[in-house]
Amino acid sequence: MAKSKNSSLNLQGINAAIIMDGNGRWAKKNALNVTSGHERGVDVVKKIVESAAKVKLESLSLYAFSTENWSRPKKEILGIKKLIIKAIDSQLPELIQQEVRLNFFGDYSSFGETVIDAILDAERSTAFEDPKLKLNIALGYGGRADIIQATKLIANKIKLDKLLLEEISDETIFKYLKAPINDLDLLIRTGGDQRISNFLLYHLAYSEIQFTETLWPDFTEEEFLQCLEAFSNTERRFGKRS
Ligand code: IPE
Ligand code: IPE
Ligand code: MG
Repeated sequence: MAKSKNSSLNLQGINAAIIMDGNGRWAKKNALNVTSGHERGVDVVKKIVESAAKVKLESLSLYAFSTENWSRPKKEILGIKKLIIKAIDSQLPELIQQEVRLNFFGDYSSFGETVIDAILDAERSTAFEDPKLKLNIALGYGGRADIIQATKLIANKIKLDKLLLEEISDETIFKYLKAPINDLDLLIRTGGDQRISNFLLYHLAYSEIQFTETLWPDFTEEEFLQCLEAFSNTERRFGKRS
């Protein structure tokens, strides 16, 4: 069985991310409203996080809501807002028990105070120094917005003579980007579309990218492990002659 075959997977030091797409289509296919699709999506997150911790991923970054998603219908955004609060509430004890460090990134201020408070509380109560897994949730995140704000911060440092132009390196840029990772090793997108949708633009430079037709609510631990297995069998050359 795939599970036992994959049980030896060890992905220490690997930073993975998922564009969890397909909740709306899944809901439509099952004659449900879109919020039920997102709700089902949250159940899948729980399973995938457990699995990511088991195979010892360094970090898992999940695209939950993009800057572009703010233009969705108010009703859908309200449903997502309620779901964030509910998900944090119900999953926090288990995340603490699993020693998973939660970190939300992006501009989620428009979700309002209740969401902000729930997020800050969740981050505080999972601030493990040496976590089993770093779980990063992109909420109100856009790769371009991130690059723009980092550019402004760097320009300001130079203006104030606190940084030399010659000192700007990859490291400097990663330091000022809000996304809490540097190089991303693996990106998975569910839902069948083969695009990045403004996710971790700078971090994706040398990521392995996998697309699956599976709609996010149908994504299973087994398929996740298959993705990781395929990743671990990939030769990563980084431009070098192998
Ligand atoms: C992804 O699922 C979740 C969010 C963007 C919040 P979608 O809601 O985009 O699902 P589809 O693409 O419409 O099926
Ligand atoms: C990408 O999905 C964003 C998230 C999964 C949060 P979208 O459904 O918003 O992306 P597009 O519109 O298909 O590019
Ligand atoms: Mg979508």
